[in-house]
Amino acid sequence: MTELKKYQSAVWSEPIVLTMGSPGRRGQRFALDRPVDHTLGELLPAHLRREKSVKLPELSEFEVLRHYEHLSQQTLGMMGVSLFGTCTMKYNPRVNERLVNKPEVAEVHPLQDPSTFQGTLEIVDSFDHMLREVSGMDRFVFQAGGGADAAYLHMTLTRAYFADRGELGTRNEIITTIQSHPCNPATAAAAGFSVITLPLEEDGYPSTEALRAALSDRTAALVMNNPDDIGIYNPRVKEWVDAAHDAGALCFYDHANFNGVMTRIRARELGFDACMFMLHKTFGSPKSGSGGPAIGAYGCTDELAKYLPGPLLERTDSGALTLVEGSDKGVGRIREFMGNLPVVIRAYCWSRSMGIQGLREAANLSVLANNYMETRILSIPGVSKAFPDNKLFRLEMTRYSLEKLTADTGVTVLDIQNRMTDFGVDAPWLSHDPWFIPEPITPEAGELWSREDLDHWIDALAQSCEEAYAQPELVKSAPHNQAIHKLSDAQFSDPDTWATTWRSYTRKYQ
Ligand SMILES: Cc1ncc(COP(=O)(O)O)c(C=O)c1O
Repeated sequence: MTELKKYQSAVWSEPIVLTMGSPGRRGQRFALDRPVDHTLGELLPAHLRREKSVKLPELSEFEVLRHYEHLSQQTLGMMGVSLFGTCTMKYNPRVNERLVNKPEVAEVHPLQDPSTFQGTLEIVDSFDHMLREVSGMDRFVFQAGGGADAAYLHMTLTRAYFADRGELGTRNEIITTIQSHPCNPATAAAAGFSVITLPLEEDGYPSTEALRAALSDRTAALVMNNPDDIGIYNPRVKEWVDAAHDAGALCFYDHANFNGVMTRIRARELGFDACMFMLHKTFGSPKSGSGGPAIGAYGCTDELAKYLPGPLLERTDSGALTLVEGSDKGVGRIREFMGNLPVVIRAYCWSRSMGIQGLREAANLSVLANNYMETRILSIPGVSKAFPDNKLFRLEMTRYSLEKLTADTGVTVLDIQNRMTDFGVDAPWLSHDPWFIPEPITPEAGELWSREDLDHWIDALAQSCEEAYAQPELVKSAPHNQAIHKLSDAQFSDPDTWATTWRSYTRKYQ
């Protein structure tokens, strides 16, 4: 173990910006050569006009800058080492941020005539073709605002497909597995399907017999993610897809964990009818939570393409690109317009800069980095790996368990997570619910981090575990070097205490 780098977050008593400043304080004052024309406001319909002026804080430019600098100094983010597992969080190259902030991208309005933003549409079309190449699918759309949204799109397409065949009344079940992301069963239920969840066997995936027993003429779709969020690849995937097709069901590939298999497998060749990729994770666009500015790129076969929601890109005889509505059979919009186009542009730039060889190299590196980490992590007392009887190499991530460490010391994985942040690493990802692996922790290296960074992360884990045995109270009372000590999650669970806006905060607390 190398000597751990020291870390201490800045701690500012930073007020909320809405309570700062003083009336009349300004960033810049501009001399106007003619007075502001207030009559322009009358162009707005009366019911949209503001009657009282909005209560904004009045601050100098420097105060604003200092405030946000202080806040940023209190967060770690990618300034530390962030091995946040599942779906591969990546560094977002600055050059791509520069590109999407150019007026040609940032100032395009989605209701503009397509002839006025042909360049952007060409990028969307090229990127669609790139994803076709890596998946084998016939067409991609970018409307879904994240992975869960793309899963929902698939569920609605499944409905449309079976409604069209007059089978919706009978095909009302979706089969998934206990380790699939919670959005898979949740979106299936939201679209009106009942969900069959298969349990895992010793290998870490359900048996083919369990799948066959669940399949019937009521099955609408099989939904799989492979490798899954534990890092295990189900080698029987083709057999599964064939069995589901034999039962007349569709097969959807939640490809969130694509990083370790990029350019090595193609969803179509495994038999899938549709798949999704996370542009905001695997493809180098910023990760954004809760369906924010993200994209779950959804691709499907020609057979399903007629159910896709518009607006869809179409090339006219003159070679120009235009936007057309989806077919009458199409599912309605699930998000606005064509989706978050700056995310597509970043993902396109990232993919072009990688090239197909780069994607292959990144996949290889991410598997190598994960297996390097695994060898070191498994030598830490108290740490084991999920499904140890499965001797196959994990791919781009491994789920570990601190069950023994907790039994020996009373220190939980949440305590270890807090303590690790004291060493300047981002709080590691544990597991989605339900936690069927006790005290889980799931780091994912991806291709970005150097060996020194990976070693630093492992050293932080090793140090925290060693402390759990030697000084459990030190770990239980962590973090000690962070701006905020501990958040109480009681507030997150009680709607009476939620205050997600300044207005609700003042209503509830002032
Ligand atoms: C396998 C899998 N599918 C879907 C999702 C949901 O993606 P998003 O957060 O973009 O909605 C995740 C996110 O962690 C995931 O791991």
